Amino acid sequence: VAGKLWGGRFTGGQDPIMTQYNESIYFDRIFYSQDIRGSIAYARANIKTGILTDHEFSEIERGLNIVLKEWQDDKFEIQPGADEDIHTANERRLGEVIGKDIAGKLHTGRSRNDQVATDMRLWLRDQLEKLEEYLVDLLKVIAARAENDIEHVMPGYTHLQRAQPIRWSQWLLMFGSFFAEDLQELRHLKARVNKSPLGCGALAGNPFNIDRDAIAMELGFDGLIMNSLAGVADRNFVVKTMQWGAALMMNMSRWAEDLIIYSSGEFAFIKLADAYSTGSSLMPQKKNPDSLELLRGKSGRVFGHMAGLMMSVKGIPSTYNKDLQESVEPMLDHVKTVGDSLQIATGVLSTLAVQHENMLKALTPDMLATDLADYLVRKGVPFRETHHISGQVVSLAEKEAKPMDQLSFEELQGVDKRFERNVMEVFDYQKSVEMRSAKGGTSKSAVMEQIEALKAALAGG
Ligand code: ARG
Repeated sequence: VAGKLWGGRFTGGQDPIMTQYNESIYFDRIFYSQDIRGSIAYARANIKTGILTDHEFSEIERGLNIVLKEWQDDKFEIQPGADEDIHTANERRLGEVIGKDIAGKLHTGRSRNDQVATDMRLWLRDQLEKLEEYLVDLLKVIAARAENDIEHVMPGYTHLQRAQPIRWSQWLLMFGSFFAEDLQELRHLKARVNKSPLGCGALAGNPFNIDRDAIAMELGFDGLIMNSLAGVADRNFVVKTMQWGAALMMNMSRWAEDLIIYSSGEFAFIKLADAYSTGSSLMPQKKNPDSLELLRGKSGRVFGHMAGLMMSVKGIPSTYNKDLQESVEPMLDHVKTVGDSLQIATGVLSTLAVQHENMLKALTPDMLATDLADYLVRKGVPFRETHHISGQVVSLAEKEAKPMDQLSFEELQGVDKRFERNVMEVFDYQKSVEMRSAKGGTSKSAVMEQIEALKAALAGG
């Protein structure tokens, strides 16, 4: 096949649909700078192996920097049909710039198999750095809002039924807790990704005793993927990234779902900023939480890519197979989607308005039924008994058709003699919240402690 770098043993032409089916240049061109950096490091290490003279290396380095500049200036001309992927494109162009005699030595002992794995890891590690920044930004806003809005009390829910009063900050910090775990895992993930496969060759290793450690060091990797077969076969680092991002997006989707509910007219606990809402083309009154719906929706897309890649990888024989090229596009989409989502979430949270009055209005005295039971517990009555007694008070209030806190002291005494006058103090949402002062609870001090813990986790980069 004329013009192909691997064309030596081929005679017939390629089906044009096959050419297009096979090529990855239109998406892996994004790795142009990683590919060039990797090539320079690889060439430098080939001075010591005796493959390249100092002069030849300098020429290769000079040429590759010219090619890099062309990409940066958007002047690189992809040759359709010939430039199958970023690796072949860069090498083809290098030959044109410095001549094939020297350029033709660059690929000695190397394969696109270790090359693509290197490019992907270099690219991904920088992207993970950005994702970490975005995630830290989101967590900072969570911590700041939790501190700033600490007085706001709202209904806490189980089964989407009003359960007990909580601080709005407590709700924020639930997601602070989830996302802080995601942050911790991201930090582990970064270390996993940042290992060098370069020098593994096509699969069996380098026959010229190349110094893989020196290459890894030049490229800023923390060590090697040692086994050469593993180096080229591994896409676990992509799978792990996608599993990590999928878990993050699952949390993000729940977060968004809560906020969608809280922003509805029926709840009206929060109001989204116009910057993150859209209108209806038909109904003039509508202000829709599209940002949050997209966060929820895009989580599905992220899960899909993760599952798709796992399907692609699970059955392939060792080591490199072209199936692995199918890891690139989902990885690109994954990183973009997760990165955008984190930034949107941060924007939404930092600009939304809390409608505290509505949160208060949504609190109902029956949400203090547990506190009423606890009142008797403090008088030595076993909880199983107090639960029953408090239940009777709930049903009395229902029968009398009045809120629980409107029952008279006499009516309460009618249910159980052990209620004393100060029982009426139970019906105080602030007090209920403040009672929960054990670690992790919703009292002010316990919330402050959580905020401090979250800030410490952020610093632990
Ligand atoms: N473009 C390929 C990929 O993304 C790398 C090329 C390896 N090709 C090969 N036939 N060994 O995986």
